[in-house]
Amino acid sequence: MLNNISQRASEFPDNPIRGLEPLANQARAAGINIIPLNIGAPDTFSPKQSIESAVQFLQNTPALKYGPSAGNLDLIAQLTRFYTKKCGFTGISPENLMVTQGASEALDLVFYAVADQEDTIATPDPTYPNYLTIANKNSLKMYALPTSIQAGFHLSKESLENLPEDLKAIIWSSPNNPTGAVYQEEELQMLLEISRQRKIWLIADEVYRSLVFEQDKPGFYRAPSILDYATKEDLERIIVLDSMSKLLGLCGARIGSITAPSELIKTMVKIASTRGCPSTISQAAITSINEIPDSFFVDNRAVFQQRRDLLYTKLAELADLGVVVPPQPPEGAFYLVVELTGINGADFAKWLLTEYPALAKTKETLFITPMLTNSGGFYLDRSRGKSQIRLAYVISEELLVKAVEILKKAISLYLSTRK
Ligand SMILES: Cc1ncc(COP(=O)(O)O)c(C=O)c1O
Repeated sequence: MLNNISQRASEFPDNPIRGLEPLANQARAAGINIIPLNIGAPDTFSPKQSIESAVQFLQNTPALKYGPSAGNLDLIAQLTRFYTKKCGFTGISPENLMVTQGASEALDLVFYAVADQEDTIATPDPTYPNYLTIANKNSLKMYALPTSIQAGFHLSKESLENLPEDLKAIIWSSPNNPTGAVYQEEELQMLLEISRQRKIWLIADEVYRSLVFEQDKPGFYRAPSILDYATKEDLERIIVLDSMSKLLGLCGARIGSITAPSELIKTMVKIASTRGCPSTISQAAITSINEIPDSFFVDNRAVFQQRRDLLYTKLAELADLGVVVPPQPPEGAFYLVVELTGINGADFAKWLLTEYPALAKTKETLFITPMLTNSGGFYLDRSRGKSQIRLAYVISEELLVKAVEILKKAISLYLSTRK
């Protein structure tokens, strides 16, 4: 055993989304077919324009050189156009933008740039676990704004009262990971009001903005954005994150962006210079973003909406087994959080990968994500969410039907073995 691993590294929390991967690999090696509901990697195709522009770049590039730390100028110009023309945002120019290695790097840079050690950042609870781990890595404190399954995980006025004195920022994702909630004008206005009163940063993680359902409008459509309601002065305190993993289904390209006041962008580019530049090959894939037809976004939205409806309806039918779904289907992204009454989510997720196949005499099982694990999870308040799991509907409808059948059988079996 090595004795020179730092204490902070040794104590770094497990990733609740990837933490069970070794058990899943063992099950696969034993010939078990695993239906993946655990990770938010869309199974839809990446746009052909992106693949073609990356191929073209490689064919015409004799040497892969470093690019600018803020991202390639032509990509920044194309993103400015996309956000202005396609998304309809105003007040964004190239100096308000930088390209990052996914929204994940963006989070690290933003947290480092807006808060000092021991400062506090608030987030709706449950939240995206990387906010918690990245805050931990930067020695920041996180403050929970409680939301509940009964209220469809929406923000309430009460959850935003009595915020701590040393609060530097509020971060949220909408459409939300893990809950699928899409914050509406009233919620976004409440956040803006707090930012005005307390002069704090608002960090809007809008990586799922194109996956918002029940929109009968034709063409590209996006979720309500904090930018829709911000005044010019508000923009001085607003940071918006984007990810090509979700917008374009290009997870492996690792490209995201930050939109922020130009002074903050300059500071973050200075910090980002330590990693040189984002991959120039991946950036080339995004440079064609404005050539992607609306049908790409429309078709994707339709696929996920259909899956959401199917999964929500099928799970609601399992009420007798103690499965609790939110009162309405989630409005966006591709996640559904359900409560399994009387079941510990972390134990159940592990049991599905280890014991269920033999007990049920089957070669097929599920990979699900518990909302709380021993060392981490989606909840900041660790007294909550123990019996909740997150399901990512990034598999075909046929597989989703099969997955719910397995879940039904597994819940009964699990409960009978625990009596
Ligand atoms: C809410 C949210 N923010 C950020 C990210 C990170 O995205 P990326 O793949 O661009 O690093 C994810 C990925 O799942 C996410 O769900």
